[in-house]
Amino acid sequence: MWSLIASFCLGFIFCKVLPNLRHRAFAAVMAQLSKSVDPTAEAFKKKAFDGLLKEQPRRPGATALRILEVGVGTGTNFKFYPEGSHLVVVDPNPYFESYYNANRAKFPNIKSEEFIVAKGEDMEMVEDNSVDVVVVSLVLCSVGDCKKFLQQVLRVLVPGGKLYFLEHVREWDSEKHPTKQRFQDWLTWLQVWPALFDGCELNRETLQLVKSAGFSEVDGQKMYAPIDNFIFQLVNPTIFGTATK
Ligand SMILES: C[S@@+](CC[C@H](N)C(=O)[O-])C[C@H]1O[C@@H](n2cnc3c(N)ncnc32)[C@H](O)[C@@H]1O
Repeated sequence: MWSLIASFCLGFIFCKVLPNLRHRAFAAVMAQLSKSVDPTAEAFKKKAFDGLLKEQPRRPGATALRILEVGVGTGTNFKFYPEGSHLVVVDPNPYFESYYNANRAKFPNIKSEEFIVAKGEDMEMVEDNSVDVVVVSLVLCSVGDCKKFLQQVLRVLVPGGKLYFLEHVREWDSEKHPTKQRFQDWLTWLQVWPALFDGCELNRETLQLVKSAGFSEVDGQKMYAPIDNFIFQLVNPTIFGTATK
């Protein structure tokens, strides 16, 4: 009981009183994690983003694909983008910028723009109908207002353009995994997980959110990510797919 109260208090202090420290620490941890490439996880991401290589520009007169990645973090998805494409990136955590720039320099064949510090909910600086594709990976679990975020995605996409998403979600099988669901709910409700992982919530029903956002077509799949670690199995129920404007 005391340890729960202590984690709650520490989480509260970390989230509310020291947000800069939390953002800085999260960026450093994510940069460290992205250095060790797990081939099984890479294959899983490839499955989600493979279609990107076949995407064509839809903006009138455009010759290169224009991609917007929201919540880009350190920039782990460059390898999935077609050569010659043009990348715009948005992320609210400014401490990711130096890590993103270091990754960006390794992919000179992708024309990447400067890091824009903004939330996906507030990316008014990205013009209406100005991108062919939007990419989000492991972002919607931490977004404050997913409805507003997805409205912004629809606004910036050209008609016919696609959102590619890959997100961990609440366990869907309550018969086989009731305990996992309970842990996901408790750790989120007690603010333990969000405090440790920069606002990440374990129990979001993200596929439903995407389906009700107003896209003309949503093609989503559920799959368990290949994660062996006992604690991190809490994030293995995953959805991925595309949503077309
Ligand atoms: C777990 S990291 C994933 C980073 C990257 N997409 C990847 O797959 O490696 C979550 C990212 O979402 C960003 N994020 C959190 N809230 C956001 C919001 N409201 N709008 C846009 N990005 C957000 C965080 O700053 C962080 O970069």
